[in-house]
Amino acid sequence: MKFFIDTADVTEIREAQTLGLLDGVTTNPSLIAKTGRDFKEVIKEICQIVDGPISAEVLSTDYEGMIKEAAELKEIHENIVVKIPLIMPGLQATQWCTEQGIKTNVTLCFSALQALLAAKAGATYISPFVGRLDDIAHDGMDLIAQILEIYAQYDFKTEVLVASVRHPMHVLESARMGADVVTVPYKVLSQLAKHPLTDIGLAKFLADSKSIPK
Ligand code: E4P
Repeated sequence: MKFFIDTADVTEIREAQTLGLLDGVTTNPSLIAKTGRDFKEVIKEICQIVDGPISAEVLSTDYEGMIKEAAELKEIHENIVVKIPLIMPGLQATQWCTEQGIKTNVTLCFSALQALLAAKAGATYISPFVGRLDDIAHDGMDLIAQILEIYAQYDFKTEVLVASVRHPMHVLESARMGADVVTVPYKVLSQLAKHPLTDIGLAKFLADSKSIPK
């Protein structure tokens, strides 16, 4: 399973990159806004830090606007994946990108039928938002299971990118289900390696090591 980091904060991205576990980065307009920086400047900087797929989202909601933005975003760096919302013009734009050889991440997916349409449009990635479904008392991980089940029946190349991850259990369940990618906030990424028994065990080993004759 590939690990992407879900942030536009270059300090976090640099720190995560030092772990050597990072396969890519996802951003969205809210994450970019949080940085208070220019959109293209941030995306360019992220591309210098991580050598992998970097998702950058279009802001247009009409087909013409989306494909214009997609072409511009693609010019920023060869690793750019154009993030497109799952609305009808977005599916058309995804199809256009597929024909042009531009990679896409179809975002804001909340149903398996939406995911089916994205795959038919040739999306490189589909981003189901599990945390936002959990927030409204729907089972986000059940959506992942449904999408994986549907994709397994056909020859779709679209990768399932689990998004809106809130905690390590989302990551564990994604891995158990065989999701292709999980994109995690820095906080969740740093929680993954933690276990209290590891800390207790290490403290004991270090304490005991003091009585080893030198
Ligand atoms: C991923 O591509 C999305 O931008 C992100 O995971 C959304 O997460 P949120 O629901 O925590 O905002």
